[in-house]
Amino acid sequence: MAPPYDVARLRRRFPALASGLAFFDGPGGSQTPDVVADAVRATLAGPLSNRGDLTLAQDNAERAVVEARAALADLLEADPQGVVFGRSFTQITFDIARAMAKRWGPGDEVVVSRLDHDGNVRPWVLTAEAVGATVRWVDLDPASGELAMGSLDRAITPRTRLVAITGASNLIGTRPDVAAVAAATHHVGAWLYLDAVHLVPHEAVSLRTSGADLVGCSTYKLLGPHAGVVAGRPEILEQLHPDKLLPSTDAVPERFELGTLPYELMAGATAAVDLVADLVPDDEGATRRQRIETSMAAVATHEDRLRDRIEADLSERSGVTLWSRASHRTPTILATFADHDAGAVSRQLAEHGINAPAGTFYAHEAAQRLGLGPDGGLRIGVAPYTDDADVDRLLGALDETLR
Ligand SMILES: Cc1ncc(COP(=O)(O)O)c(C=O)c1O
Repeated sequence: MAPPYDVARLRRRFPALASGLAFFDGPGGSQTPDVVADAVRATLAGPLSNRGDLTLAQDNAERAVVEARAALADLLEADPQGVVFGRSFTQITFDIARAMAKRWGPGDEVVVSRLDHDGNVRPWVLTAEAVGATVRWVDLDPASGELAMGSLDRAITPRTRLVAITGASNLIGTRPDVAAVAAATHHVGAWLYLDAVHLVPHEAVSLRTSGADLVGCSTYKLLGPHAGVVAGRPEILEQLHPDKLLPSTDAVPERFELGTLPYELMAGATAAVDLVADLVPDDEGATRRQRIETSMAAVATHEDRLRDRIEADLSERSGVTLWSRASHRTPTILATFADHDAGAVSRQLAEHGINAPAGTFYAHEAAQRLGLGPDGGLRIGVAPYTDDADVDRLLGALDETLR
């Protein structure tokens, strides 16, 4: 039997936790472990030049790229040759949308959802509109917080070329039935683009089994540095031709990666994946992917228990509305308050050294559909390093603030 999840052991890896702050802002970006910062520093400080095989400096750059593709391929259960690195999920998604839109025209249709972060909405809407393609919307049911599957059936037609959907809402945590979306998408021969930015920190996501054709995440949401990654099936990436410089390679995945790669961030991303794989120690020779699956299952159990504690407390309080209601969801809670605005509650918590921001968090369509004001809600996110003491502090500070 695998040893239990040891949150105290993990917490020792985070210099930021020595500040005494409690971090419930993981959905916006996680804190960084020492091994990740060390890998970034060592890459920059070591001999480093552009990729090649002539000098140690070239080898180091080459190794950073090869190892990062292998690590992210394990994280997303994808082919390393389909792993595209970029500055952020948003940037890569815009680039891929522009490349796909070269194949679209009037009569073609693109499907987006009102549950999604705008990073998986606007790139598709703008590029579709620019070539005269039609945009269709999948709705969010505000009462249940679920993706409205009936509207998905209406939105997908034989003219659909691309469906862009989130694996989990960064606003209310909803995890839609991706397998059902994939089945409907593939039934009409379209491609599925999965935004797993908010799902990857809470589940071992798999390009292979999810049914997605391309899946994206941001390494800074799961203990890594500020970069984005999209993994696609290489045979799909081969069909896309992004704008690129004439002398730069036309090989996949490099042709999607404009300019020089961020070698130090790639080394940091590899270190983050290795740390995730090691969250539950294994001495039985499992592969890194298997260890990621074991670790993320343990993370989910740990995080869901803490989420249940917070939700149980908040649901007992009068004047608190909890918006995270979907049957299947991440440990991300959005709350509003009858007698306080969410921004004021967030400021009060900050005075107690507790980071839990208020807002709509770029989930523009979802916030509108839920009828949240510009202030949005207070978002409380549980991360792999959150512990019971953090939750005690949060609940105590909320008690003081809301009383
Ligand atoms: C669900 C989701 N999608 C997309 C994004 C955008 O990611 P990036 O900052 O890497 O562009 C975020 C960031 O918060 C997110 O939570």
